[in-house]
Amino acid sequence: MSTLVVQGLRKSFGGVRAVSDVSFHVAPGEMLALIGPNGAGKSTCFNMVGGQLPPDAGTVLLEGRPITGLSPRAIAHRGVGRTFQITATFGSMTVRENVQMALLAHRREIWQFWRPVAGRHADKADALLDQVGLAAQADRATSVLAYGDLKRLELAIALGNGPRLLLMDEPTAGMAPAERVALMQLTRRLATERGMAVLFTEHDMDVVFDVSDRILVLNRGQLMAEGNGASIRANPAVREVYLGSGATSGGH
Ligand SMILES: Nc1ncnc2c1ncn2[C@@H]1O[C@H](COP(=O)(O)OP(=O)(O)OP(=O)(O)O)[C@@H](O)[C@H]1O
Ligand SMILES: [Mg+2]
Repeated sequence: MSTLVVQGLRKSFGGVRAVSDVSFHVAPGEMLALIGPNGAGKSTCFNMVGGQLPPDAGTVLLEGRPITGLSPRAIAHRGVGRTFQITATFGSMTVRENVQMALLAHRREIWQFWRPVAGRHADKADALLDQVGLAAQADRATSVLAYGDLKRLELAIALGNGPRLLLMDEPTAGMAPAERVALMQLTRRLATERGMAVLFTEHDMDVVFDVSDRILVLNRGQLMAEGNGASIRANPAVREVYLGSGATSGGH
């Protein structure tokens, strides 16, 4: 069974059709890249799957169960993870404490704020940090982490809930090229090990071709192509619309 099935998803903002009748699926352990030029509707798709935006039409199924239009919290609880930007609020906490806090939040134990975080879920936090290559940084203040390590911490936090589907909207934005590849190869390995489906978007085409199993190309809200790296590279319409647009290397 597909981990994620999206059927006929649609969203307009005023007169702008941001997403028109988009359908796709993601299999367990699969890395699916959703690419397209700026304004193509990628983030709108992520936000409809993650519950941040209600779709105008269409359905979203997670392991066969409808999650369409549920709250982000309810969708997270059903097994959808998302990488978030870490806020400065937790900068004074150690790397391990940030993961522990996230584990408490996932388990809805966050209200027990008067109990010290130390010791709670510490082993699980260390296991997650080990998986993302941050074991050696566990006791450092989050505020002193290099940017690439902060992104790894975000990944550890997103994995805390044992997601079946991980949504990553430009996870490597602002990173150096070598770090981008490393983060996405790490994600690729975790997806395989956990049988976790990953839907991601990324402006660096080298990274996309390197780590994705399959690529979807969105343009003006519509899916225009689907295939592996070789078929997407060879598709003349894609070359014209996307690769020709100048959006071939990092960021915006
Ligand atoms: N909250 C909003 N209100 C109004 N228009 C919006 C809103 N969010 C997105 N749009 C519009 O919808 C279209 C799709 O935007 P979206 O952010 O999904 O594109 P994207 O593919 O993620 O682009 P980028 O590569 O720049 O991140 C754009 O025309 C955008 O201006
Ligand atoms: Mg976007």
